[in-house]
Amino acid sequence: MNNNKLLIVANWKCNPATQKEAEHLFVSVKKEIKKIDEVETVICPPSIYLSLFKQKVIQLGAQNCFWEDKGAYTGEISSSMIKDFGCKYIIVGHSERRGYFNETDDEINKKIKSILKNRLKPIFCVGEKDRDSFDSEGKLINEMSFIVSEQIEKGLIGISQSKIQDIAIAYEPVWAIGTGVPCLPDDAMKAALLIKKTLTGLYSREIAERVKILYGGSVISQNAIDYIKEANMDGLLIGGASLNASEFVKIIKRVII
Ligand code: 13P
Repeated sequence: MNNNKLLIVANWKCNPATQKEAEHLFVSVKKEIKKIDEVETVICPPSIYLSLFKQKVIQLGAQNCFWEDKGAYTGEISSSMIKDFGCKYIIVGHSERRGYFNETDDEINKKIKSILKNRLKPIFCVGEKDRDSFDSEGKLINEMSFIVSEQIEKGLIGISQSKIQDIAIAYEPVWAIGTGVPCLPDDAMKAALLIKKTLTGLYSREIAERVKILYGGSVISQNAIDYIKEANMDGLLIGGASLNASEFVKIIKRVII
């Protein structure tokens, strides 16, 4: 495992519905974790709530960004604005953005470059859609290895090895997101090994070892530790469970035991 602190990231997605609820959730988490030093906790709320949460205990992240710093791009928020605000992380390439907003590998690559140029840290999401796929003859295809390595190779085109250690790669199998069907720790470990192998091919073994690898997909307090201890992950990217303050805090407390 990467030597640094565990990275536990809350992706609130398009939740909660009101500012009042968002403030309550944030304050409830902050109160419980302010003395915990073994974990770097990051909360990525909807961008409209970010300014409510400027403080020093919890790092803030954005869920998306645009690759140009400024200009006539209605509706976009650039990574340079996110940097200027004081965030440290930006989630990029989430499967919901790839799926619902047709984000391509090429766009994801431009976003990663702009995040790195602005000295922020991308949390680069990769993952296959289906758990098992079969070809026309009914033979099992290992979709995970093909899709994940292709997403990494395309997402990292033109990114130099001096920048690569600022990136965390989140393995989020789409079939495990929000379904209550988490990936088996053993399979998550295989995905992490594949990610390292892909990075070794693109850069070097030494560089690959420095990249943090996170798991995301139906993580709850009962299974969180398995991904850290059994799958050797460097952290977690948590959706649904991060919207419940006591459950999210429980996850953080369990992974440091
Ligand atoms: P869930 O934890 O709700 O499965 O979501 C995972 C995710 O998409 C985090 O980015």
